[in-house]
Amino acid sequence: MATTDDAVAARIEELRALIRHHDYRYYVLDSPEISDAEYDALFRELEELEQAHPELITPDSPTQRVGGEPLPGFAQVRHGEPMLSLANAKNEEELRAWHARVVRLTAEAGWDTRDLRFVLEPKIDGLAVSLRYEEGRFTVGATRGNGEIGEDVTLNLRTIPVVPLAMLPAAAPFPRVVEVRGEVYLPLEAFSRLNEQRLAAGESTFANPRNAAAGSLRQLDPRVTASRPLSVWFYGIGLVEGRQFATHYEVLEWLRAAGFRVNPDVRRVESLEAIVEGCRRWQERRSELGYDIDGVVVKVDDRALQAALGAVGRDPRWAVAYKFAPTTAQTRLLKIHVSVGRTGVLNPWAELEPVEVGGVTVERATLHNEEDIRRKDLREGDMVILQRAGDVIPQVVAPLTDLRTGAEKPFHMPDHCPSCGTPVVRVPGEVAVRCPNPDCPAKRAEAIKHFVSKGAMDIEGVGEKLVERLLELGLIRDAADLYRLTVEQLAHLERLGEKSASNIVNAIAQSKKRPLARILFALGIPHVGIENAELLVRRFGSLETLQKASVEEISQTPGIGPVIAQSVYDYFRDQRNLDLLARLREAGVDLEGPKEEEEAAAGAGTRPLAGKTFVLTGTLPTLTRQEATDLITAAGGRVTGSVSAKTDYVVVGEEPGSKLTRAEELGIPLLNEARLRELLAQGEG
Ligand code: IVH
Repeated sequence: MATTDDAVAARIEELRALIRHHDYRYYVLDSPEISDAEYDALFRELEELEQAHPELITPDSPTQRVGGEPLPGFAQVRHGEPMLSLANAKNEEELRAWHARVVRLTAEAGWDTRDLRFVLEPKIDGLAVSLRYEEGRFTVGATRGNGEIGEDVTLNLRTIPVVPLAMLPAAAPFPRVVEVRGEVYLPLEAFSRLNEQRLAAGESTFANPRNAAAGSLRQLDPRVTASRPLSVWFYGIGLVEGRQFATHYEVLEWLRAAGFRVNPDVRRVESLEAIVEGCRRWQERRSELGYDIDGVVVKVDDRALQAALGAVGRDPRWAVAYKFAPTTAQTRLLKIHVSVGRTGVLNPWAELEPVEVGGVTVERATLHNEEDIRRKDLREGDMVILQRAGDVIPQVVAPLTDLRTGAEKPFHMPDHCPSCGTPVVRVPGEVAVRCPNPDCPAKRAEAIKHFVSKGAMDIEGVGEKLVERLLELGLIRDAADLYRLTVEQLAHLERLGEKSASNIVNAIAQSKKRPLARILFALGIPHVGIENAELLVRRFGSLETLQKASVEEISQTPGIGPVIAQSVYDYFRDQRNLDLLARLREAGVDLEGPKEEEEAAAGAGTRPLAGKTFVLTGTLPTLTRQEATDLITAAGGRVTGSVSAKTDYVVVGEEPGSKLTRAEELGIPLLNEARLRELLAQGEG
């Protein structure tokens, strides 16, 4: 007969199963099915029932992640099967050599080399862990240690939300014992935030995300670990009893079904060319991942073949790590300089001892603003951590405070413009400090450099150096003066012959016919980037109309907010700007742009996606993210990073992320690659 207690026990089990399922949707798939409030309600109900019936609490209950007191030290754990390491391939040549050896050994072992398959996984830069599950329940977790014996970090691993305390029912029948292996890491954003917090608390900083992850996991107090947003990618198994797997890929699929976070971009491939291509793709995507990878691991898929291939010492012959250049480095911050931008903002930047990061030599880095420098507590003379977030600008993440000698110099923003000496002003509500002098030479130089730059008037042969030289010699004072330069004047400059001089004069002359949006952008109106410039031109047609428009009229342009509108309005109320426009017009720069009919004809022909906003999610069958973005942009569309009500289309590839869920919620039309290509093709023919 069912008693109340039976009913309570059943409800507790049901709640645990529901919470496990929703944890998996939220933490592993990044695709929650219920709201946070609904989840909290389930969790609270479970907590209350367990409080009323403490005898029903089990260690695998989702309420039991953080508990207990700090440990006196770590116990040792012997791994059921050793944790191996990986041989490196430093370049494509070594990767090819590894593949050739696998093919040869496979044939020698009597296997058909046509059956060879490989699995490509990101090599996560964190620390390896091994988690023992018995009958589907997490029992003991350990670090790699020396490969045979590691440290018992069970209590700490339990605090990481993506670590299943119990496997999901989809993975049944559970093996009697299995060691699940993966890499614990700290996402890049969490790494920077952690270092900032530590600086604020006067604690020493972590040199890289890997050290931060290791420091966070190897904590004697699990409550400290619980406060660090650690995550895990699982990539394999060690000892397994009571279940067989034919291939590594099958292992990964089973782990995923059991609730483990397995990287969605893991791929199975056959040919060497596909391996090489896969490695290239990871390298390209490296900057977008939000966590550090230091290479790609290539593994032979067949587990029986893995065993046949064996290992050399600690390195299995059946796997290799194709390594990337590191994206973090340490170097000395020699000096903090301040330059003045086009709008007068004072920009601090770091002069660094040259160091290689992510394959390029870096000797300077932007420091954003005074507040950022203060928050990071960067001082001249500090050893600092550099991070190249992607292929872009290197960032100074934090100083290595442990290495300070006391001779380091804190930074103070100058209170006078370093270019013209005018006292600077602080804009209320902004962190920026500005030089208010409209005639500041640094501002003028930056304005002209912007005018000639690639996205703006794109004047070939006129670079930053030449602009500075021309200003120094008094040959130009503003952008309009460029159009008066003669071949004779230029040919007299150092290292410029008659030929290059006349090329430059030609290039300058050709720029007079740039599309109006480019010219508007080239003027350097605060807040008007090329996209806003296009919106404004589409709405107002000519500069003259735009100049006469009121703030209200300008802000009625789709996509143009009140701040931008005010900035545009103000620009045309400043006599200096009106003079420049008059002089540009006089010099022959076409400020009217194409007539409306022309623009419509041109637009219909080549810009079928004009005004449309796209978001990409998942891997497309043939296009890389960059290629898709380029095609969309070339057709007049815009690609943004997140889905909102303003998104027109979401382009969906394989293994899409939470953006798809968001798009479905908002009812935004979805496209696959084929449909995207159809849309793009509408402009041709
Ligand atoms: S497999 C073959 N797969 O790299 C068995 N390791 O240099 C070796 N690592 O200790 C492990 N991502 O810490 C494997 N997808 C991945 C990995 C990975 C990162 C780390 C792991 C290991 C080290 C070997």
